[in-house]
Amino acid sequence: MIEIIQKVKTYFHKQFGEAHALLVAAPGRINMIGEHTDYNMGLVLPAAIDRCIYMAIGPAKHATRIVSMDLADELVVYDLEHLKPHQKAWPNYLLGVVDEMLKDKKMINHFNVVFAGNVPLGAGMSSSAALENAIAFGLNELFELEYDRISLAKLSQKAEHNFVGTKCGIMDQFTSMMGSAQQVIKLDCRDLSYEYVRLDLKGYCLLLVDSNLSHHLTTSEYNLRRRQCEMGVQIIANKFAHVTSLRDVDIAMLDACVSVIDPVVYKRCQYIIEENLRVVQFCDLMEAGDVAAAGNILFIAHRAMRDQYEITCPEIDWLASMAESLMGVVGARMMGGGFGGCTINLIETTYLEDFKEFISNGYRQKYAIEPGFYEVNISNGVCLLE
Ligand code: GLA
Repeated sequence: MIEIIQKVKTYFHKQFGEAHALLVAAPGRINMIGEHTDYNMGLVLPAAIDRCIYMAIGPAKHATRIVSMDLADELVVYDLEHLKPHQKAWPNYLLGVVDEMLKDKKMINHFNVVFAGNVPLGAGMSSSAALENAIAFGLNELFELEYDRISLAKLSQKAEHNFVGTKCGIMDQFTSMMGSAQQVIKLDCRDLSYEYVRLDLKGYCLLLVDSNLSHHLTTSEYNLRRRQCEMGVQIIANKFAHVTSLRDVDIAMLDACVSVIDPVVYKRCQYIIEENLRVVQFCDLMEAGDVAAAGNILFIAHRAMRDQYEITCPEIDWLASMAESLMGVVGARMMGGGFGGCTINLIETTYLEDFKEFISNGYRQKYAIEPGFYEVNISNGVCLLE
């Protein structure tokens, strides 16, 4: 971590002279449970982690220069007032935020940026939210824009909608902004009320297993799930006028509409309604100190993502079901948007090394892919390092 920070600082000073730079660290996130519930006004249980985007940012005169050290790529922008989505993906996470701030009538002058990170890309750990939040936080400090953290998270989310094209919920940006060391965030996405909950894992630990798949379905399928949920809401609202989101719906109400609802839409709605209940159950069981029973909810959640929401893929299903069959594993499920990325596993600490060995051998044999393993620590949200 110190090495990346040093690398970013050194590059910034070499490239842009001795000009003063602010240094921002913006974390990725995990999510214990509550997947795809955020844009349905539901409940989630994420936490920020000790993997971040590190960004040096300072003022500039005639042009804005942005350097992605990890991709060895650079972007120069002369006119910030008329930004459009870029044909490459990565600049959009930054330009989108600038554009939202300008639309919000904020004064933003040219700036220089250098960034690098250790949030794995495409692993479902929200490297994109980390990048959006890093630039949002950095610009807020640099130009004294006076946004609070939650407003910055909302701006980052809008950038993702308008420049990146994913109609994501608020979970990732909120978590990366608001994270708190050793605590998960029980966030109600209906009104953004939240509570920090200490995660006492007792003799268990969290391990992420990266499927190392690069699936490209994510954006289109993600947006499709969102539309299917909206279609469900429309139909249910015909019968129950007070319904504005799936948060207002229970299974009995959904069942009352079964004859007029498309079967696929039915499954999507059922998943969301039950996933909200699983978040509550998981929290209750953790509070009661029953980590193993809480973990079991993760297995159930995985099957629901596989069969009802249909956002998994064979490799990820293999990782989750293999974990379920192993000694010492009390919970496992896919984490994040879907179609690849990581599984999150709750493992008795003494079995950790056996688990890694078994999974890497088995996965390599079956799919000829080397999985990644990340032991993550729950950390604070975005901060200024210098
Ligand atoms: C992505 C989105 C989030 C959320 C998750 C699924 O990470 O950015 O808003 O919907 O998928 O829970």
